[in-house]
Amino acid sequence: MKKIVRQLVLGFTGIMMAGIANAQLVANDKIQEEKIRSLISQMTLEEKVSLLHANSKFYVSGIKRLGIPEWALSDGPHGVRAEINRHDWAYAGWTNDSSTCFPPGTALAATWNPKLAYERGIVLGEEARFRKKDILLGPGINIIRSPLCGRNFEYMSEDPLLISRMSVAYIKALQSKDVAVSVKHWLANNQEEHRDSIDVHMSERALREIYLPGFKASITEGGAYTVMAAYNKFRGDWCSENEYLNREILRKEFGFKGVLMTDWAAAHTTIKAALTGLDLEMGTDKKDYNDWYFANPLIRAVEEGKVPVAVVDEKVANVLRVMMKTKMFDEDKREKGKMNTPEHQQAAYNDAAEAAVLLQNNGNILPLNFNNIKSIAVIGDNATRRHCNGGLSSEIKALYEITPLEAIRKKFGATVKINFAQGYEKQSTFKEGSNTGQTSSDKVDWKLIDEAVEVAKESEVVIIFGGLNHDFDTESSDKQSMDLPYGQDVLIREVAKANPNTVVVIIAGSPVKLSGIVHRVPAILWSWFGGMEGGNAVADLLSGKINPSGKLPFTLPVSLDQSPAHALGNFPGRNLSVNYEEDILVGYRWFDTKKIVPQFPFGFGLSYTDFSISNFYTDKINYGKGETIHAKCTVKNTGSHYGAEVVQLYVSDPACSVLRPEKELKGFEKIFLHPGEVKTVDLMVKIADLAFYDETKKAWNVEAGDFVLHIGNSSRNISKSVKISVK
Ligand code: BGC
Repeated sequence: MKKIVRQLVLGFTGIMMAGIANAQLVANDKIQEEKIRSLISQMTLEEKVSLLHANSKFYVSGIKRLGIPEWALSDGPHGVRAEINRHDWAYAGWTNDSSTCFPPGTALAATWNPKLAYERGIVLGEEARFRKKDILLGPGINIIRSPLCGRNFEYMSEDPLLISRMSVAYIKALQSKDVAVSVKHWLANNQEEHRDSIDVHMSERALREIYLPGFKASITEGGAYTVMAAYNKFRGDWCSENEYLNREILRKEFGFKGVLMTDWAAAHTTIKAALTGLDLEMGTDKKDYNDWYFANPLIRAVEEGKVPVAVVDEKVANVLRVMMKTKMFDEDKREKGKMNTPEHQQAAYNDAAEAAVLLQNNGNILPLNFNNIKSIAVIGDNATRRHCNGGLSSEIKALYEITPLEAIRKKFGATVKINFAQGYEKQSTFKEGSNTGQTSSDKVDWKLIDEAVEVAKESEVVIIFGGLNHDFDTESSDKQSMDLPYGQDVLIREVAKANPNTVVVIIAGSPVKLSGIVHRVPAILWSWFGGMEGGNAVADLLSGKINPSGKLPFTLPVSLDQSPAHALGNFPGRNLSVNYEEDILVGYRWFDTKKIVPQFPFGFGLSYTDFSISNFYTDKINYGKGETIHAKCTVKNTGSHYGAEVVQLYVSDPACSVLRPEKELKGFEKIFLHPGEVKTVDLMVKIADLAFYDETKKAWNVEAGDFVLHIGNSSRNISKSVKISVK
């Protein structure tokens, strides 16, 4: 009884406290809005407009006499970019701007661990503040629609739920350090080819179900302070001046009160952009900043009565609001930040360690027992290549970057003979905005292959580090194929013939074709671009110090033509227009619905231990539309290594008035277990989240009837399914 009373008292106190905190927030917001109004009332039109366009590559002017500071922006979904000259794109040559470099977006998503996204956000926030930055441009959350998109590596997934969970955690953490995020690229920047001219068309349903949810969650749950409008057009209008996207959806539906900025040089007009809700112009390619669309032309437009001054005030208010939220007027109370701490480096390591996906491990060749091995061959350009400093706007001047070969030598070199061979050579040269440097019509270099075969023969075990580099996974151009470049297929074939104990490690941030190698080697580990600690993590994964626990955040097709956009011939579009005909069937939604067997499915990844998922049930059988399902199951580590399993909950709607994907991810959780340990997982799904977007009603719709819930550890490995009914 006493316990119940205590709980009641505690519960009541909790509600009271939450109520007080909420009231405090409302009061603070009120004070803030008054302060904003007062500041605006003291500004001249020229001063107002000076806040709405950059005064250099990454800064926006302040207004000294009103105590409004200059605004400092920096690139960086996975690190704070080195300082760039104010008025050109060259690096400023600072000696104190090397930073922590995390593995890029697809790797983060492959951890399926929002706690790591949160940890990353904290680190980035601290480093951004240390560098005195106010806005860190990212996260990049566009849907991975095609395996070829050059920026896939920066983005996260083909699945909106996985994106949403990672993005929200990242944003909350980063902004807690008094730095604003800029969620990008709003919207449908799903290819780099013709990115600054392509007009994207898709159904309203695809927009609502696939392309918007990540942004919606980032804004309504994550509370993102700024959003970056993409280069492309959407349904005929540039994203930076798109009434439907920017006024209707972003402002009205999502209630966004922050700043909508352009991508760099993505502004096209003054009046239309101003009226449709753009706030801030960045990166325009005109030397005199006064000539920018949101500079003198905006002043003129107001004077001529074409843009009401209230519209300008609205933009200035958005800018000031973000400044206040990030405590720019309260420097004493603001996060001071720190840089390159051991904790930051540990966070980068944790991501690389949890991101790696074990795709194949025949005969349990991995982990390698380095205590019993006398010699290994390390082969491949990616064994020694550093990647942090590539990919264009997301490139990082990392404080250091450990390559796989360096880590293997350091960790095992004292007792194991390490025989290195180059194996293949980088034959491409990168040129911004052009695909010419990266075709894979490469020569097979038999001299390098012969050398590699020789070291393979001399060694007990071989590790080939292959995959891509940032000539392929890069902003500004798309890959031309999914092939492994530089003759790697032939290299792997010949080496595996010479030594069957060959492990392949793929370093890449987007899908590549593995059909030429899966039958030739016993083990494949996908380790992504691993950031500054990538080499250490991969060495620890190979030796078993760390047990792989990553899962694919995208489907790995056998070949490009399996993939929806390519199967339907609508990538990269025709006549500068692309129609997303695959509609809602993106990624595994397509593969599963069309019963196409990919090379490796979405959500897939092996471990050095085994798990069982059992005892799957829901708390009820019949649900009302406002209710929440509790889907519970038991996960057990049935093997002999400590490890983690990602329990994935998919839902099907077998009888519906419209086509539904075969299944859709509706929940997941990463569970860490010691050998023999058992945990119960409770995944909650709102019935409302089972809805489809009903184009006839222009609303979300859950049709009454049966739904099937599937629990498993990939979209294609379902342990059990349970039927529920919605009234
Ligand atoms: C990219 C953005 C980036 C900006 C600034 C653009 O080219 O698309 O993602 O933040 O440049 O570097």
